[in-house]
Amino acid sequence: MRMKSQSPNAVRSRPDITINKRRLLRDLNAVSRIGLGDHGSVTRLVFSIKELRSRQFLIHQMRQIGLQINIDRIGNIFGRLEGSYPKAPAVLAGSHLDTVLQGGKYDGTMGVIAALEAARTLKEHNVPLRSPVEVVCFVGEESSRFGFSTLGSSLVAGEVRAEDLTNASDVQGAKLEDILAGLGIHRNNLLSLRRDPSSLKAYLELHIEQGPILEARRKPIGVVTSIAAPTRFKVIIIGQADHSGTTPMDMRKDALVAAAELTVAVEGICRQHSDMDKGRVVGTVGALKIEPGVINAVPGKAELAVDVRSITASAKNRVVRLVEAKIREIALRRKVKIKILPIRKEDPVPLDKRVVHLLRDCCEAREIPYEIMPSGAGHDAMQMAKITPAGMLFIPSRRGISHNPLEWSAPQDISLGAQLLLDAIVRAANEKI
Ligand code: GLV
Ligand code: MN
Ligand code: MN
Repeated sequence: MRMKSQSPNAVRSRPDITINKRRLLRDLNAVSRIGLGDHGSVTRLVFSIKELRSRQFLIHQMRQIGLQINIDRIGNIFGRLEGSYPKAPAVLAGSHLDTVLQGGKYDGTMGVIAALEAARTLKEHNVPLRSPVEVVCFVGEESSRFGFSTLGSSLVAGEVRAEDLTNASDVQGAKLEDILAGLGIHRNNLLSLRRDPSSLKAYLELHIEQGPILEARRKPIGVVTSIAAPTRFKVIIIGQADHSGTTPMDMRKDALVAAAELTVAVEGICRQHSDMDKGRVVGTVGALKIEPGVINAVPGKAELAVDVRSITASAKNRVVRLVEAKIREIALRRKVKIKILPIRKEDPVPLDKRVVHLLRDCCEAREIPYEIMPSGAGHDAMQMAKITPAGMLFIPSRRGISHNPLEWSAPQDISLGAQLLLDAIVRAANEKI
């Protein structure tokens, strides 16, 4: 247990203002029913009907509370509670409502609904706030549809460049660039969604851990210090489609076998760099498409999606260079053509030390044991950290499972996380950060 002696700030928390646990869990369940599928899975891919319905649910709830709603052009939702100084920079709290394909109920959703419950509690108790507070739902945090993560928060942070969008398309071939154009967001006005940093005081995000550490250490809360960021790229392998019965084994240019070799190599290289002292690099080939994809033809084309992450930029870059070298070697030896299409390259993001301190104080004020930890998963906080002091709280995920229908967190941990989020919002709105 990492606890330190109580700082003077700790006594300023308001243990008398408590969230309504039943209401919190009721709303969380209500959102989870949108996109519910087999085996309790939830699918709300960005810009799908289900995802839009979850956003409508949130807007409805915000309206009932009486928040002032602002929806930007891409669909990020901001529900604002005014403070006594309306011109003061706002404290934002939230996460995302979109999910991966057949994901769980908690990833992102819990952070949005907890922020909603916090705002509702603040309003009910008429808690005096110096700064305004905004509940936020960012669009498209998940990369499952377009391979492009934290879309809404990246636009708000002014972190999207035109070339980032070029290679992003879904399995049906719909281009992200075209979808954005349909929303009035063209290459040349990407920056129009950027939020003026002077309008922001802090960003706070509550999220499930999506990993096994908190459960293993029996801690109900994680205070996050930094977020690992991905380098993502597609690899297109062009071999030659051929008759599977007549083409001799030594005359084939099988794109799938080259892809399989590369997949195993990504695993091997990342394993060699997976220790903490080597940057704890992880790498995944998460999607593979082949053509023609029939039983009686040698595959002529393969397309892989590669995701490499670390909390150390240099370690991640080293691994990416090794993977690229392996790609060149496979291409030469197997006489296939290989193209690499970059999707995104981001640096790991440290979270704000003052916000980390504030979050620790909030835990200590309620005598809650916590773990100081990095995040292996990406979050909207990593974009928001570029324009405002940002911090994150984690709660345990059962068996560390996430992006899976088995994703689960205990109701008491969810309530505790939401309560600490509320405490942190009040402190961030009323105190100097
Ligand atoms: C977000 O879920 C990620 O892929 O890290
Ligand atoms: Mn998430
Ligand atoms: Mn996720």
